[in-house]
Amino acid sequence: MLMEDFTFDGTKRLSVDYVKGILQPTVTCDIWDEIWNFQAKPDDLLISTYPKAGTTWTQELVELIQNEGDVEKSKEAPTHQRFPFLEWKIPSLGSGLEQAHAMPSPRILKTHLPFHLLPPSFLEKNCKIIYVARNPKDNMVSYYHFQRMNKALPDPGTWEEYFETFLAGKVCWGSWHEHVKGWWEAKDKHRILYLFYEDMKKNPKHEVQKLTEFIEKKLDDKVLDKIVHYTSFDVMKQNPMANYSSIPAEIMDHSISPFMRKGAVGDWKKHFTVAQNERFDEDYKKKMADTRLTFHFQF
Ligand code: PPS
Repeated sequence: MLMEDFTFDGTKRLSVDYVKGILQPTVTCDIWDEIWNFQAKPDDLLISTYPKAGTTWTQELVELIQNEGDVEKSKEAPTHQRFPFLEWKIPSLGSGLEQAHAMPSPRILKTHLPFHLLPPSFLEKNCKIIYVARNPKDNMVSYYHFQRMNKALPDPGTWEEYFETFLAGKVCWGSWHEHVKGWWEAKDKHRILYLFYEDMKKNPKHEVQKLTEFIEKKLDDKVLDKIVHYTSFDVMKQNPMANYSSIPAEIMDHSISPFMRKGAVGDWKKHFTVAQNERFDEDYKKKMADTRLTFHFQF
């Protein structure tokens, strides 16, 4: 069946395939050349993450900073329409490329691509890029629940099965380890601000200040506080323009697991068995031996 003819019925899922060694929905693989040749503009701001690392939160933050805390403006459309997701294509909903082409500048774009698959024009145009990384245990748990509820991604199987799939990097957008390391190595050579979900959670105002500086805005303290409030998990969970409730239930079924699930650091402890944790740590040590990048797994 042609992917163009695919219709979600609440049970069927999009198929996946490899492009340049990275697993992706087949619809993305089919348009890879167009994605690779995407022409960024110098004033594009790109938010890049491994899936489930805090993308939506950062999108909301960045837009509110750019609009100097104008909350009403952020409520004009849902997340997936306000921020073109470069490599995303959903039969019946459209594609990130189409949205980006139709959008006036300055654009805030989203990608989950590993650094080596980033369309080269972002670097040629010296675009500002914000990368957010999340500790892999919480990241894995979040991704597992997301794959359960999202028919645009493969069925994750049982938690035990998913644990192995994730460690093997056989999930869409590839290995978490390679992703965070690739962007970490790139951050000093390009205009990349590298942030951590755990820091955002621990001291949101401090991270908002960093973002504000990077975006070259000057905001007074009151506006910063307002932005922190509107981007807190509890407020965003209730915000229909930020909680993905506008995606048809045949694609994202929030009754299986809400998009805004826990928004916490350390929730992995409720999922990992002692044996899984030991296995994870051993694997992590090996895969992260060649980097100074470190993560907080709990507060
Ligand atoms: S996606 O699909 O890749 O764009 O998902 P992404 O937005 O990167 O990640 C979703 C997880 O981020 C949590 N989230 C937040 N945490 C704290 N504060 C705020 N404001 C916030 N907004 C979203 C969301 O709940 C998902 O994490 P889990 O652990 O599943 O709850």
